[in-house]
Amino acid sequence: MTQKIALTGIKPSGTPHIGNLMGAIEPAIELSDTYQTLYFIPDYHALTSVRSKEAMAQQVYEVAATWLAAGLDPNKAVFYRQSDVPEVFEFSWILSCFAPKGLLNRAHSYKDCNAKNLDAGKDADFGVNMGLFNYPVLMAADIIMYGADVVPVGQDQKQHIEIARDIAAAFNHQYGDLLKLPEPVIREEVKTIPGIDGRKMSKSYDNVLPIYVPTKKLRKQVMKIVTDSKGVDEPKDPDTCNLFGIFKLFASKERQAQIAEGYRSGGLGYGAVKQELYELIDQYVAPGREVYQEYMEDTARIDQILSEGALKARALALPTLTAVRRAIGIGK
Ligand code: TRP
Repeated sequence: MTQKIALTGIKPSGTPHIGNLMGAIEPAIELSDTYQTLYFIPDYHALTSVRSKEAMAQQVYEVAATWLAAGLDPNKAVFYRQSDVPEVFEFSWILSCFAPKGLLNRAHSYKDCNAKNLDAGKDADFGVNMGLFNYPVLMAADIIMYGADVVPVGQDQKQHIEIARDIAAAFNHQYGDLLKLPEPVIREEVKTIPGIDGRKMSKSYDNVLPIYVPTKKLRKQVMKIVTDSKGVDEPKDPDTCNLFGIFKLFASKERQAQIAEGYRSGGLGYGAVKQELYELIDQYVAPGREVYQEYMEDTARIDQILSEGALKARALALPTLTAVRRAIGIGK
C-alpha cells in the first residue's frame, strides 16, 4: 500500500510563535514517521496582507528556519515554497470555477472583515481584496493538488479544510472521483493556544510568545502575560487564569497539580509562576534556538533546501493537474 499523504503550511505573515510551533509544526512533524509529508510556506497567501517587500522576504526565512529548527528533515519531507510551484495557481483558477460564491461569503476571515466594517459604519467590503476573498480556493488548491489525505492545522483552519472538501466534491460530482477529499487533523490538547492576553494566540492580536528569540526577550514577553491583580497571598482560580492555561502546555501533570493547588490555597504569586513558565519555555526551545540562528545566518542554504523541495513538489503536483485538464477537456 502506498503511504498516505499529510500536508500543511504556515503563512509567513509574521514571526512564527509558540501557537504555530505547538499547534501546527510539531504535530505535523510527528506525522512524518507514518505519512508521506509535505510542508510548505504559502507566501502568496501572505500577500493578502503583507505589503512590505522586506517583511515578506524575512518572514519566509523565519518560517523556514523555524520548521528546520523544530526538526523537519528535508530528506524525509517535501519542504517547499508555494510560489515555486506555479501549477498550483492554475489549479486554483480551475477550482475557483467550482467554488460557489455563497460558500466563500461564509468563510470566517472574510465574514469577520465584513462584520468589523459594518460595526465601524463602513461599507462591508471596505479594504477587502479579492486575494482575501479567494484565499480558501488557493488553500484548497494547495491541499488537493497533492492528494493530501490529512491536513494538520489549528482549530481556526478547520473551516478552510471543509471548504476544500466541498470544492473537491463539486468537481468530482461533475467529472468523477478524481480529487481526494482531505481530512483536518486537530491536536486535542492544544486546540487553541492562549495568547498573553487570554485570547487565542495570534499575530493579528499581537499577543504572541515568540519561539527562537534570545532568552531575555522571551522572558520579557512571558512577564507581560496578563493576569488579574490578586496579591501573592490571595487565593486564585487556575481554571480562569490564562497564565495557568499557558503553563499547562509546558509543565508536567504533577507540576500542574501543585501549581493549581498553590493558586487555590493562596501564597503563590503570579510573578513566581511566570518565572517558572519562562524557564520551562526556555528549556523547551533551547535546542532549536541554535539551529534557527544558524539557518538565519545562512539564508542561501534555506533557498537551496526550498528549491530542491519545489522540484519534488512539482513532480507530485503535475499528475493531478494533467488529469484535471484532461477531465475538463482542456489539454491532452
Ligand atoms: N491558511 C493557513 C494559515 O493561515 C495557511 C495555509 C495555506 C495552509 N495553505 C494551506 C494550511 C494548506 C494547510 C494547508 O495558517
